[in-house]
Amino acid sequence: MRTQIPPTMKQWVTDYTGIDTLKQEEAPVPKPGAGEVLVRISAVSLNFRDVEVCMGDYDHHDSLPPPPNVVPCSDFLNISGRRPGNGNIQPNASDGSDHRRASAFGAWSAPSSVLSEYATFPLYGLVKAPANLSDEEGSTLPIAAATAWMAINWMQPIGQPLRGAEHIVLLQGTGGVSTAGLQLAHALGLKTIVTSSSGDKLKKAKELGADYLVNYREKTEWQEEVMKLTDGKGVDVIFEQGGPATLAKSFGCVRWGGLISCIGYLSGKQDVGDKIVNTNVLALRRNVTLKGIWNGPKDRLEEAVAVYDKHRIKPVIDKTFAFNEAREAFKYVAAGSHFGKVIVKV
Ligand SMILES: NC(=O)c1ccc[n+]([C@@H]2O[C@H](COP(=O)([O-])OP(=O)(O)OC[C@H]3O[C@@H](n4cnc5c(N)ncnc54)[C@H](OP(=O)(O)O)[C@@H]3O)[C@@H](O)[C@H]2O)c1
Repeated sequence: MRTQIPPTMKQWVTDYTGIDTLKQEEAPVPKPGAGEVLVRISAVSLNFRDVEVCMGDYDHHDSLPPPPNVVPCSDFLNISGRRPGNGNIQPNASDGSDHRRASAFGAWSAPSSVLSEYATFPLYGLVKAPANLSDEEGSTLPIAAATAWMAINWMQPIGQPLRGAEHIVLLQGTGGVSTAGLQLAHALGLKTIVTSSSGDKLKKAKELGADYLVNYREKTEWQEEVMKLTDGKGVDVIFEQGGPATLAKSFGCVRWGGLISCIGYLSGKQDVGDKIVNTNVLALRRNVTLKGIWNGPKDRLEEAVAVYDKHRIKPVIDKTFAFNEAREAFKYVAAGSHFGKVIVKV
């Protein structure tokens, strides 16, 4: 059945001055160029970055000078036109070499972003979503799941992910990336420690298979607790999400030769305090690998998607908003009370 494509569509745009100034507008449906496809967006999964873009705070990557406004967001699932769950998810680079291009969607270096009814993408970049997932669930995979997969497996050859209970992964917080990381680690048989500010969220993490739970509000020196839980050895992989408030503590509970995957900066982008030990010293002290993670290439997303498919993993969705409620959805993510992902249904 051929679908009629209308001449215009709805989209949200930001001029980087905040969530309240996010504006819905009518725009021409874009025309695909050579090697591109026009996709009908079905669900958009929000990321912390999307909030930052609206606030004008997403400024730590090298990028082109910003245009006056941009359509935010980068995580989506499209309707295939054949059957639900057979859609494609976000284009990504074909391999690690072209990584930056994929990761720029929704930021101001983006050629095209997804909080809209239609968008065009290079055909090579689309990845098929697992058939058992809803559009909302599938839309969470390109950013949260791909980033979580890379945080665990970037050093592993493709097809040979880290496996087995002798490896321990520490997940900071219970947002989108950490929750995806928890589900993937659990599926791979890795042991997991989840930190959270909330006892209720820790209970939910337990239901997803977390082996150990630490409330970082109650145990502010949570790294000491992690060392106790691991008999003084420390953990193999850390999802470093906090930045200034957490990095030194991560160095305090990573095992000798372990990996700290630098994903987020939820406590800010500047170090504070006058007694910070130099990062070089911290890294060499336990022979640690400190790796910046910026999403992942297409082949690694496909590897992660295969694990979702095989283990029938259902991404955790906290709340779904209607397209017209995008502002409320952004505010909900900014408030940080969610567990897992927040979706805008298109
Ligand atoms: N590098 C990449 O490719 C990439 C991709 C996606 C996201 N990110 C970054 O990763 C971070 C998380 O993104 P997200 O989309 O998962 O965010 P999110 O869904 O908004 O998750 C936020 C959660 O993190 C926890 N948190 C907040 N402050 C914390 C702190 N100081 N220490 C430990 N945990 C803290 C809280 O969980 P509790 O309430 O349970 O404590 C909060 O609910 C952000 O900084 C984002 O920009 C990076």
